[in-house]
Amino acid sequence: MRRPIAETDARRLLSGGPVTLVTSSWHGKQNVMPAAFVTALSFDPPLVGVAISPTRHSYDMIRYSEQFALNIPSRRLLHHVQYLGSVSGADVDKLELTRLPTFKATRVEAPLIEGCVGYVECGVEDALRTGDHVLFVGQVLAASADAEAFDGTWLVEDDDEKPLHYLGVNRYALLGPKMEARIPQPEEGREKSPEEAFEEQMEAAREEEEKRREGGEKRPPEERESS
Ligand SMILES: Cc1cc2nc3c(=O)[nH]c(=O)nc-3n(C[C@H](O)[C@H](O)[C@H](O)COP(=O)(O)O)c2cc1C
Repeated sequence: MRRPIAETDARRLLSGGPVTLVTSSWHGKQNVMPAAFVTALSFDPPLVGVAISPTRHSYDMIRYSEQFALNIPSRRLLHHVQYLGSVSGADVDKLELTRLPTFKATRVEAPLIEGCVGYVECGVEDALRTGDHVLFVGQVLAASADAEAFDGTWLVEDDDEKPLHYLGVNRYALLGPKMEARIPQPEEGREKSPEEAFEEQMEAAREEEEKRREGGEKRPPEERESS
């Protein structure tokens, strides 16, 4: 059975990307807030976006400093993430209060939070009004990740090394087992109709999947760069 969802809740169907802790620094003060409205935007130049409501203290800090950092927490920081989203840096010094250890970023003044599995340091390229949020477009100035968590893609092996995903309200999740899709081979089905070629690719994928399940083949035949 399918049930309707309020337009204002449609965003929840898109939930699941890694939640981030956005750090900022302005005039000697530092702040941190969780943000789930985060996305990659461009390969070249490397741009990422984070949508922040102008009601947040972080909004002012980022607007004035024109910098921010995205810290990607693991489940070790689950309760901290929720807490940091319930109080404002306008009222309390959240980093001092929570005693979260930080270290210096390489390219921005915003501090980086220890114990996260990935870090993206950004300079603000643009700020676009999107409804009741402002999308800060950040040029990536530096990025790093825990080698046990990421080797070019998230490894998704040790639960403590997986990024944390936000589902909404106070619900979070971790990624389940990693799957590798078959990479379509351009030479296959060259002289066939698109429908026949598609069927052939799907059949080959099913066969490979079966072989992998039987423990024969561990990796797909070829790995190519993709997003
Ligand atoms: C998991 C989580 C994700 C959130 N995502 C966003 C977001 O993407 N954008 C936003 O403006 N606020 C988001 N919030 C709300 C802010 O984090 C929250 O209002 C915070 O207290 C703002 O802190 P500040 O006033 O110190 O900047 C989120 C809160 C939580 C708990």
